[in-house]
Amino acid sequence: MSNSVNGAGSPFRPARLAILSVAAGAFLALALPTHAQPVESGATIWQQAGCFNCHGNLAAGDGDAAYPPGPNLRRSRLDRDQLIETIACGRPSTAMPFHLRGAYTEVACYGLPLGAPPDVPDAGQFSAEQVEMLSDFLLEHALGVTRITRENCAAFVGDANNPMCLQY
Ligand code: HEC
Repeated sequence: MSNSVNGAGSPFRPARLAILSVAAGAFLALALPTHAQPVESGATIWQQAGCFNCHGNLAAGDGDAAYPPGPNLRRSRLDRDQLIETIACGRPSTAMPFHLRGAYTEVACYGLPLGAPPDVPDAGQFSAEQVEMLSDFLLEHALGVTRITRENCAAFVGDANNPMCLQY
């Protein structure tokens, strides 16, 4: 009885420990989103998916020469549903990969019966919610937005002082 870690001589310690650990938990919950990872957004998904390799950093079609060239998305006339389906399902027989996890096999694409994907590269690691988040980001900041401003650049790269944005 006398050598209990929590008990020895102080009936209040266990309660104080409990309060401390609740406080520590609350602190961690507040601290994690800002210090561990940026909060997921359309912009972070654009980066993570590597869309910029083919479509350019700011979706203007000036991608890395080492990758298959993708069109300027700022000039795209797709509506929201078409945009979501294109990102989710890719474009068969082109370099445009599908990005929705389970596209073709579990989620139908372009009205095809479920089954093995046709000739379309597989980049299918995103959920339907993530594909929608990315699509809405592009609808706001790229499709039909032909003039790139410093602010528009910052929406893609996260910081108006990024060297990439200083020319705008
Ligand atoms: C490996 C290169 C490559 C990558 C990576 C890539 N794309 Fe594409 N994308 C293309 C090509 C090539 C086309 C043109 C396909 C065609 O000829 O119809 C295209 C077409 C598109 C279109 C259709 C534009 C239109 O108006 O018809 C959209 C939208 C698009 N890509 C968005 C994305 C997004 C968003 C990502 C990232 C999640 C992405 N792409 C990743 C190569 C790529």
